[in-house]
Amino acid sequence: MQFDRRRLLTGVSATLAAGAAFHAGAQVLPPAGYATPAGTSPFAPDVYRARRAKLMEQLKTGVAVIYGANAVESSAPVASPFYQNGDFAWLTGIVDEPGAILVLAPAERTVKEWLLLPSRDTETERWNQERMPLGAMLEQRVGVQRVMRTSALGGLVTSLASRSKELRYLGPIGSANAPVSPVLELYGKVAQRVPGCAVRDDTGLLPRLRCVKEPRELEIMRKAMDATRAGHLAAMQQAKPGMSENELRFIVESAFRRAGGTGLAYDSIVGSGRNAASLHYATATGMVHGGELILIDAGASVGGYACDVTRTFPASGKFTPEQKVLYDLVLEAQTAAVSKLKAGAYLEDLSEAAKAVFRKAGRIDEFTHGLGHYVGLDVHDPGDTSQPIPAGSVITMEPGLYLQSANYGIRIEDLYLVTETGAERLSTGVPRTTQEIESFMARG
Ligand code: GLY
Ligand code: MN
Ligand code: MN
Repeated sequence: MQFDRRRLLTGVSATLAAGAAFHAGAQVLPPAGYATPAGTSPFAPDVYRARRAKLMEQLKTGVAVIYGANAVESSAPVASPFYQNGDFAWLTGIVDEPGAILVLAPAERTVKEWLLLPSRDTETERWNQERMPLGAMLEQRVGVQRVMRTSALGGLVTSLASRSKELRYLGPIGSANAPVSPVLELYGKVAQRVPGCAVRDDTGLLPRLRCVKEPRELEIMRKAMDATRAGHLAAMQQAKPGMSENELRFIVESAFRRAGGTGLAYDSIVGSGRNAASLHYATATGMVHGGELILIDAGASVGGYACDVTRTFPASGKFTPEQKVLYDLVLEAQTAAVSKLKAGAYLEDLSEAAKAVFRKAGRIDEFTHGLGHYVGLDVHDPGDTSQPIPAGSVITMEPGLYLQSANYGIRIEDLYLVTETGAERLSTGVPRTTQEIESFMARG
């Protein structure tokens, strides 16, 4: 399903060390943990330096600009939560500074990377949090060769482009209805001023790199799965008719946190009966009635890495015969798709395998969304799904059937690590067949 909201990247900085105020020459710097950027998260700065080096190895020439997310504008006196952009988070690990910009110039002789941060504003810092001054200490914390202020952006990019004559666009490609991205706007201005300067399309590079997970990313995603599993188990155990969807959502999300989840991968979907037939029903304002199917699509995140799991189960602990037939059909569609999942497979072929099951049963019109998507720092992680699925990627398989007029929505969503020979289901340990669900719920 389409769902591209950025999640809050939480997690303790890998570089934090408790300590007293730090003296850098005459300047007294705030102790670690008291000013942003706190460092890089969830990994140490050298991880991000290596990722940038890998990207620059592929770029070879030119200048690339990557914008971090901006703060959410609001008139409310309390600041809204900040959601970092996935590409920027993957390349820098900076998740606590809105308005940051990364500039890469791989062909430069010595300095090839710059992190630009907005200017400090002492008045705002009295309300929110202190920010680090420029200097060696800040560069050490973030592990980028040079840290400057964003006011230097125009001059820096123009002078780099006047040497390389190439502006490398890393994407993403936005819709024609959306505003032009700030990077393309900047590139347009630079190209107008630097004769012979061209914009090159490199929108495939970052998705290809991010799609294949590093072992350390998989380790953290398994932790997110431990928390996610705990939430789904708690819900299946405690759900009962008469409960509100909102209470059930609270049960799921509390269990996520108790089991080590540091955030929500997306707004939890908890819907019973007819509400479950609305794909992204996230308001949880209804009640759970006996005889209904409850659909919970919820995932914890750890260190900013998402999980995405859906389970559908009967409020009263037992499927009716009709519900069982439909549920088994969805499971059969998922099994048909997963049997074809391995490195080199095309998502389209997997999707066709799932659709064939629904078509044969005369229910194809009730399957109204995509079969799956990549997962990582973003719950809908980048990756070109028209290309073969690579080994080391993590992908969902999530067929479903939805019929509002018949009061049901059934989705079964599991997370798979793709291997050369097949796929490992990461979302193990959450009851999935009707028999597993009924016997788990009967235990009370
Ligand atoms: N939870 C959103 C999705 O399944 O894509
Ligand atoms: Mn999904
Ligand atoms: Mn989902």
